[in-house]
Amino acid sequence: MLIKKPSDIKASEITPKELFLNRRRFMAQMAIAGAAVAGLTSPDFLLPSDARAGEKLANVQKSPLSINETPTPLKDITGYNNFYEFGTDKYSPSRYAKSLMPRPWSVAVEGEVNNPKRYDIDELMKLAPIEERIYRLRCVEAWSMVIPWIGFPLNALIKRAEPTGKAKYVEFTTLYDPKQMPEQRSRMSLFWPYVEGLRIDEANHPLAILAVGLYGEMLPNQNGAPVRLVVPWKYGFKSIKSIVKIRFVEQQPSTAWMKANPSEYGFYSNVNPAVDHPRWSQATERRIGEFSKRKTLPFNGYGDQVASLYQGMDLRKYF
Ligand code: MTE
Repeated sequence: MLIKKPSDIKASEITPKELFLNRRRFMAQMAIAGAAVAGLTSPDFLLPSDARAGEKLANVQKSPLSINETPTPLKDITGYNNFYEFGTDKYSPSRYAKSLMPRPWSVAVEGEVNNPKRYDIDELMKLAPIEERIYRLRCVEAWSMVIPWIGFPLNALIKRAEPTGKAKYVEFTTLYDPKQMPEQRSRMSLFWPYVEGLRIDEANHPLAILAVGLYGEMLPNQNGAPVRLVVPWKYGFKSIKSIVKIRFVEQQPSTAWMKANPSEYGFYSNVNPAVDHPRWSQATERRIGEFSKRKTLPFNGYGDQVASLYQGMDLRKYF
């Protein structure tokens, strides 16, 4: 993975939210006007793909599982991203993810379950009450943010799916569509589609969520619209974006980063300041927007809640 310092973010590269939204509204209006001139009565297909990004989410409950830390500014959360399907640098996702169409969208729940089902995204969003979960996100590249996600516990979906006794792991897959995700034409960085996985007890942990929004609004494309995983005690790359498939399986899934570089990226990838990345230390991190570094906490500060999942495991071996 590339390592960039927050100081690399140029102020000119971060569009203030209002300006960004106004620009999108303007583009939408121009598209509608153009369609009207052409005599089209239903110009919906001309709306920008993420026309719903920025839309407020209603009935969001607060969660006792949120941390009490100041969230990173929205402009950083939406302007400094890792989403290799749109490029390997931090600024390409916000520039190029406009080509992603988060609607219509469906998520297939399949494999070792009694209730396989393909959910339309709007149906999926009603699976459980949506909550705000303010979590730390610690990237394996040693930067971090605090993100006020909106989502619901992954275990609500698992309960509906009714896994069979053979379901030991859950495999998540991102959309594969090079027309919408242009970097998928190149095999230089990763094998596509992006795949991630969790052990079933990790997936059932109350901290693991499917996020559909942030800062009270629909998820922006660059953050993984319309639905992504968030597993706050693991390095950020486990939190797979723009999910189209959730498959319950017997064998441990082979994930995108394990395939790309098995000696550097393991299946578990719990945040662990005691185990360095082969190319850099994991002892400290830079919180985006802050100058000095802070200590990285075991399990990203969620040890009290999750350490019992790994009792008896040598976390140096299972990195
Ligand atoms: N999911 C997909 N499909 N593709 C990616 O490149 N990057 C991962 C993760 N999920 C990635 C992904 C990495 S490395 C990180 S740190 C987080 O997304 C970043 O999430 P954010 O951009 O919303 O902060």
